[in-house]
Amino acid sequence: MPIYESESLIKLHIVLEIGTAYTRLGFSGEFAPRFIIKSEIRCKTTNKMRKLSDYKDQNDLYDMLVEFIQLIYFKYALISPKDKPIVLVESILCPTLFRSTLAKVLFSHYEVSAIWYLPSHLVSLAPLEVDTALVLDVGYSEAVAVPICHGYPVLHAWEALPIGSQHVQKKIMELLSSDNLGVQNLNEDVLEDIKDRCCFVTKIDRAENFSSAKPTITPCPEVTYPLGGNKMLKVSGKLRETAFEVLYNEDVDGRCLTTMILDALLKVNVDLRLKLAGNILLTGGTIMTPGFKARLKAELHKQLELPKYKHLKTENFVFKFHNPPCKDNYTAWLGGAIYSCTELFASKALTRDQYLKEERVPDWSNMRDNVRSTA
Ligand SMILES: Nc1ncnc2c1ncn2[C@@H]1O[C@H](COP(=O)(O)OP(=O)(O)OP(=O)(O)O)[C@@H](O)[C@H]1O
Ligand SMILES: [Mg+2]
Repeated sequence: MPIYESESLIKLHIVLEIGTAYTRLGFSGEFAPRFIIKSEIRCKTTNKMRKLSDYKDQNDLYDMLVEFIQLIYFKYALISPKDKPIVLVESILCPTLFRSTLAKVLFSHYEVSAIWYLPSHLVSLAPLEVDTALVLDVGYSEAVAVPICHGYPVLHAWEALPIGSQHVQKKIMELLSSDNLGVQNLNEDVLEDIKDRCCFVTKIDRAENFSSAKPTITPCPEVTYPLGGNKMLKVSGKLRETAFEVLYNEDVDGRCLTTMILDALLKVNVDLRLKLAGNILLTGGTIMTPGFKARLKAELHKQLELPKYKHLKTENFVFKFHNPPCKDNYTAWLGGAIYSCTELFASKALTRDQYLKEERVPDWSNMRDNVRSTA
């Protein structure tokens, strides 16, 4: 039996990935999302934009999601949700409250026929056609590393840290207000634009020099950023080079992006370490910053010399990064679009009838859904 469904069915599946900052949406079987929009709605009382992640309680989240899904279907996808299936690509660490409220909105309010939940780290591998790799997603609010071995996420080895673009933007705000007198509380969009247009990840030796008591190197040239009207903002060379250091600075427990990868390698079976180190997949928008991958590799080699990680270094041990056939910020979405046109949809999706029996969504973290099948 062919694994791909007929074309008329393929077109009906919406594939949706809701991130903290951006939502990617498109149709199954396509090569790229049709739209990448901000995960936010306009608040009716204040008329200001509100992020979905800023919800106060379940009712507040429900109202926000009703409005957001309405935008998705009637402003962007331009199809009716009623009796249509949907594919949701989600992080394995997605809060239960968010999952259950989204399911309630989709099944009870919009009456979709079925939802297929796909774990983002696992499906990110679909465009690469490999089944064993270490996937590190660095997004807006957090970085999550999950080793995938022979098509299964190794859940006891996941690593997560609350570092991402949000923290780089906070650092930029700090540095800007010390360089430019009177500049305070810049809009998030402006900070994001400064981060994406002016900043980059510098080389490891330059970063070490900058952090020393007496730096001996000259920073890259400064730029002026127009703030609207005749207001100009000075973005110093040092800020441009050092804003991303927050991702590599160790926290109080000595953890950073690099230790996440190395700790995940330590937690998996010895036989798999070599293969995982040679198959690292980096995803998420933050990865797209110039210099990010080269710096991460240099940091990995540096950390590997520490006594804690030294024994990882066996014969033929080498770090290799995959180059996915798409932009890094939608690798997981593309994986979802590929998975969603396989015949697995029919057996794996949660249908409306199944949901309405108990009004709950099966979850890997719930022991009730993780019992071993006796059949
Ligand atoms: N081309 C680019 N170059 C540099 N940075 C980029 C680029 N495109 C997107 N980004 C940055 O990526 C960040 C968003 O990443 P992503 O879309 O992976 O986050 P998310 O999935 O919404 O968040 P999370 O995974 O934490 O829920 C934004 O801060 C944005 O500035
Ligand atoms: Mg994400």
